[in-house]
Amino acid sequence: MAVCEFDVEQKYALSNGDLLVFPYLDEDTPLFSEKMVPAFVKGIDSPKEQGKAMTVSAGFYGKKRFVAKAIRLDDKHLTREQVFKRHLSSFVGICLDEKMSRICIFLSDSSVEMVAASMEAAILGGYRFDKYLENKPELPKVVAIVEKGLSKRAIKSLDEKRELFSWVNFSRDVLNEPPNEIHPESLSDIFRKTGKKAGLKITVWDEKRLEKEGCGGILAVGRGASSRPKLVIGEYKPRKPKAFVALVGKGVTMDTGGYCLKPAKSQTGMKYDMAGAAITFATACAIAKLKLPIRVVVITPLVENDISSTAFHTQDIITMRNGKTVQVDNTDAEGRLILADALTIASEMKPDCIVDAATLTGACVVALGEDIAGVFGPDSNFNANLIDAGHSADETLWEMPLFMPYMEQLKADIADIKNIGSRWGGAITAALFLKQFVEKDIKWAHIDVAGPCVKEEPLGFLGKGAKGFGVKTLFEFTRSFAS
Ligand code: BES
Ligand code: ZN
Ligand code: ZN
Repeated sequence: MAVCEFDVEQKYALSNGDLLVFPYLDEDTPLFSEKMVPAFVKGIDSPKEQGKAMTVSAGFYGKKRFVAKAIRLDDKHLTREQVFKRHLSSFVGICLDEKMSRICIFLSDSSVEMVAASMEAAILGGYRFDKYLENKPELPKVVAIVEKGLSKRAIKSLDEKRELFSWVNFSRDVLNEPPNEIHPESLSDIFRKTGKKAGLKITVWDEKRLEKEGCGGILAVGRGASSRPKLVIGEYKPRKPKAFVALVGKGVTMDTGGYCLKPAKSQTGMKYDMAGAAITFATACAIAKLKLPIRVVVITPLVENDISSTAFHTQDIITMRNGKTVQVDNTDAEGRLILADALTIASEMKPDCIVDAATLTGACVVALGEDIAGVFGPDSNFNANLIDAGHSADETLWEMPLFMPYMEQLKADIADIKNIGSRWGGAITAALFLKQFVEKDIKWAHIDVAGPCVKEEPLGFLGKGAKGFGVKTLFEFTRSFAS
């Protein structure tokens, strides 16, 4: 909703309420040149401890108030950009508390990495969902002050990043909305409008169409809610595409658990259960908007998992789009049921690869904690591409085993398969369930984003609420998949 404005400038002039930032790589290595330090800032020095920030000068110059901080970017566990972004986002908080109006970062090195990190801290770290607040925060502006101008290439790469970050924030906006605003019908409308604007061809399947198409999984889960189930397909086809990538995202706009009702506390994070849909859709929009030479299709099944007299039950047997029958042993394992049909549709389109993203299991959060997404897939090299893309996007993904012997756990008596396994290894059995619906010769990986996408507390340099985790990774992955 609200983000810090960001600019790059070559000259600095003090304005009232400036927070000046002087980064050091380590104790002895400033990343700004002495010449750039304004005369009113006195006694600048690096902080004594790794990774720390220190106020080096503060007060008034003329009638203008300022604070100057030196920061160190060396850290045992984090990269310099990670430390840098964390400092900058905490400075956004300081500016709000202290009513400061600008953060001015002094950089001698006009390397695009530090400027890009400054921009990322401003647009993603400075994001606040203020739509429902009477008193909206007045966010500071962030300015990177570089000694030399940026190259054309650097400017192009920054513009691209700016666009990409705006799509990360689009996904956060829809995720942060409450469940009484975002339901299958309203979300499909938002996707239709936004997708069209970004350059996607949008098709929305309503309930009638879903019936005609045999999407038993989506229909079963969506049956109990007054907002009827939808499936949104977004397509982007450039003239000479280098590859064809399909993205599939779980879109449960609210997961109460259905008749296998979640306890009250576990329901609070479940408005984020459409994170898979939000991030895959945002990624496709970014790709279309930036006209990447890759054909992309995004498929998002949208449902609300509710209790009502029409809701599905445990022991129901559902016939899925690919003809397989599924016995419902738990109505709270609904994500895999809607993804199954979507993965079948994706497979029918014969893409070069399919990547699905879903807040699929609490078990994955138990395994990896809240900051890491799990990657499951039969081809470790392919999984590694996603993990590497995450690495360059500053998002952490970890490979998990797609352990075939656990398929035993999904055996049902009077249907082909059931929708849950035993108590242990639940993230793996969920991924194995999905695998049954992907065409065998298509490369495929499943990303369980239940941890980082549902986490309410800050993650790295990102504040509370939705993080849009995965958009940067999926974008980077898709781009590199083509080459
Ligand atoms: N949306 C949840 C998974 C989830 C849990 C996401 C916690 C984020 C945080 C999913 O639909 C679900 O309820 N899964 C069950 C599966 C179980 C019934 C086999 C779970 O993880 O408990
Ligand atoms: Zn559930
Ligand atoms: Zn769910």
